[in-house]
Amino acid sequence: MNTKEALLFVLEEQRGMYVSGEELAKRLGVSRTAVWKAVNSLREDGFDIVSAGSRGYRLSAESDLLSSAAVQQALKTRVFDVRVVPETGSTNDDVKALAERGAPEFTVVASELQTKGKGRLGRSFYSPQRTGIYFSVLLRPKLPVTDALFITTSAAVATASAIEGVCGRQAGIKWVNDIYWQDRKVCGILTEASLDLENGSLAYAVLGIGINVSPPEGGFPEELKAIAGCLYPEGGCPAGTRSRLLASLLDKFYELYVHLPEKRFLDEYRRRSILKGLNVNVIQGDRTYPASVVGIDDQCHLLVSRDGQLIALDSGEVSVRPIK
Ligand code: BTN
Repeated sequence: MNTKEALLFVLEEQRGMYVSGEELAKRLGVSRTAVWKAVNSLREDGFDIVSAGSRGYRLSAESDLLSSAAVQQALKTRVFDVRVVPETGSTNDDVKALAERGAPEFTVVASELQTKGKGRLGRSFYSPQRTGIYFSVLLRPKLPVTDALFITTSAAVATASAIEGVCGRQAGIKWVNDIYWQDRKVCGILTEASLDLENGSLAYAVLGIGINVSPPEGGFPEELKAIAGCLYPEGGCPAGTRSRLLASLLDKFYELYVHLPEKRFLDEYRRRSILKGLNVNVIQGDRTYPASVVGIDDQCHLLVSRDGQLIALDSGEVSVRPIK
């Protein structure tokens, strides 16, 4: 940790309370001038740090930037190395680059803004500044490729459960990995994997999650208006929510991930499924057919009934739209 990160860590720990320059210098093992410089640099990054003469400095209780310090403090699991950047193209691409350079499992990159956020099936993911959480986690699972889908489905459960715990929203899962609240998509998940062709397993996987927390300035773009929503549609998201949500999600995901072959997430995945019993249109490539949803099997395939025939849909090739 450099001086700036260490300073933010202490201020975050005492959020809303003053810490004297002298104490900060002592705790960080640097001069008071170095503290002052780090404070200024954090302010330039957008952190709301108030100073009051001899009382020192405090991080305003309303300061709402995502920070590694805030996430690390809220995390119960100690394995994650969370890096927060103000802006990037895509956190999935950043983590992939880190993976190729040998970064350890559970390296996380989160960003306040993505300029080239990626969605599933080659789509883009709208990631405006400071209104969402956009992050990716590097995983190095010892799993057969056939089980890779469980990374995504367990992440969907962790996300929905964290949203409920931190924001009090009853989130549902639309197969396979979209999170919905009040009939709106509030989160998308994109898992990208690199294969080890020698032994048919995964070399690494990048789990990318984007959550819409507050309404974007000016609203969602026209093409997303009918589908996209956020967790605080009227605004008023309490300061620090995004950091706590990210930490809770990572904690919950870790618990499920380390026991992935046991599929502990499956019951909750089924319970949160919003497609149960619905009539849907199944879209496979350029083919569309009506079907009704029967359930989710142990492989997390969606079971649909079509003209009395039971079909297990594999995640990669279909998307499903409820008939209005
Ligand atoms: C989808 O709904 O199609 C999946 C969206 C996944 C978006 C997240 S945001 C963080 C990570 N970085 C990306 O470029 N995409 C994922």
